[in-house]
Amino acid sequence: MKALVEELKSTATETDATDIRAAFAADPQRFQRFSVTLDDILFDYSKCAVNDRVLDGLEAIAKAARVAEKRDEMFAGKPINFTEGRAVLHTALRNRSNTPVMVDGRDVMPDVNAVLDAMGAFSDKVRSGELTGATGKKITDIVNIGIGGSDLGPVMATLALAPEHDGPRTHFVSNIDGAHIADTLKLLDPETSLFIVASKTFTTIETMTNAQTARAFIAKALGEDAVGHHFCAVSTALDKVAAFGISSDRIFGFWDWVGGRYSIWSAIGLPLMIAIGKEKFGEFLAGAHAIDEHFRTAPLRQNLPMLLGLIGYYHRNVLGYPSRAILPYDQRLSRFPAYLQQLDMESNGKGVTLDGTPVEGNSGPVVWGEPGTNGQHAFYQLIHQGTTVIPAEFMIAANAHEPTLRHQHDLLIANCLAQSEALMKGRALEEAKAQLTDKGMDDAKADHIAPHRVFTGNRPSLTIVYDKLTPFALGRLIALYEHRVFVEGALFNINSFDQWGVELGKELATGLLPVVEGKESAEGHDSSTVGLVKALLAAKN
Ligand code: F6P
Repeated sequence: MKALVEELKSTATETDATDIRAAFAADPQRFQRFSVTLDDILFDYSKCAVNDRVLDGLEAIAKAARVAEKRDEMFAGKPINFTEGRAVLHTALRNRSNTPVMVDGRDVMPDVNAVLDAMGAFSDKVRSGELTGATGKKITDIVNIGIGGSDLGPVMATLALAPEHDGPRTHFVSNIDGAHIADTLKLLDPETSLFIVASKTFTTIETMTNAQTARAFIAKALGEDAVGHHFCAVSTALDKVAAFGISSDRIFGFWDWVGGRYSIWSAIGLPLMIAIGKEKFGEFLAGAHAIDEHFRTAPLRQNLPMLLGLIGYYHRNVLGYPSRAILPYDQRLSRFPAYLQQLDMESNGKGVTLDGTPVEGNSGPVVWGEPGTNGQHAFYQLIHQGTTVIPAEFMIAANAHEPTLRHQHDLLIANCLAQSEALMKGRALEEAKAQLTDKGMDDAKADHIAPHRVFTGNRPSLTIVYDKLTPFALGRLIALYEHRVFVEGALFNINSFDQWGVELGKELATGLLPVVEGKESAEGHDSSTVGLVKALLAAKN
């Protein structure tokens, strides 16, 4: 593997693959050769530093890393998350073909379908007003209390599908910072509010604490007996939910083979279902299923998640770019970069390979972003002229949900395409100087100013185009990125499905609480922590 990566590094330099601008000039067919369509999705990677030999090299690496075999093991329910002894089967949650999916010799599809049916029935009742609060009033507001995978997916998808909303208003509380729940409760009428406590483990301190605050809010306004009418829960830990006092007909389960960051397809999607209805939620699942089938069956050079993963790996581990920018030109995807941050960085932010030895080279990149065009007026400066190369991933719909504002959508598209073109083409010194002298600037001054107006160009970007951000399209987009993360994880030869790196901070926070409360001494902690505790205790009022 190491030899193949080194060979690919040489190929990239020797074949001058990184001169993207020259590659376009030399080959009028470049776009046709380095773009793929799948129904209405167009995936254009021609503005990345690839050529046929680079793709051959990546294909050889994918073969050596057994990516296709690992993919098949995932779909077959093998316990590929071996550090936790679990299968990885979020794909079963959206398996619209309903073919059996076996875990430990048992088909999980009947259970998956039973939970979906229960969610659908519950969601129908909330939306129609058949299920009311304790005083008989229709539910107008849903509050999802969860964090990480039990929050980011529902928040992102609910915002993305805003045009489809015809259910109650949705709110999301995640942060342990009391400001989050306090600001949300201010907006609510307890009589018409329903809280969803969403936690895979039902032990996460943020979620449990916020749930207790919400419980107190209902109990204070409507009495203890009212609490059960205003809560439901989503979890894999059914016993713990029962202990919280939520009745069994309001508990929606899922399974340990669903990772938190892959759980939007499970009952964790309940707030989305209540917002848009079970039929549209079904379309969302169907979109993801379509990508699953494509990922399983399409040949590598036509396979979108494979290509996206190979290019991501190439950027990170062959060309050494430390981060990637996710730039949806779609305001309703404004939380998509944050969602992908967890999906990608919690999955592929690992330092050891499957056999416990250190990763050779790099594992996952830093993932970040903001929607265009806003980002253009904030951080694009660095992407264009800074000293770090940051591959940009653009997303744009051909059509918006606002036909009367077509002009605005055309401006959005023009901006998106202009950015990828500018990144690739850049602006040479002579051109920069000519622009200045054409405007009447004298030669000496133009020489002085022109270097500041130079763009190196040859900065890689890829673009994903889709028809319109429908539930089906969103399902496809998320699944495309989920499988991309899988492909990259397989290439890095890491376990993408555990997250031990977040545990240490949790343990230390538990130990520090009595110290921060002033009940225990800070002795034994490092001098920085002791100093900070002391200052915070002194300032406490
Ligand atoms: O701290 C990380 C994490 O375990 C994520 O993987 C998970 O999505 C999040 O916490 C929330 O966990 P839970 O759903 O169990 O409350």
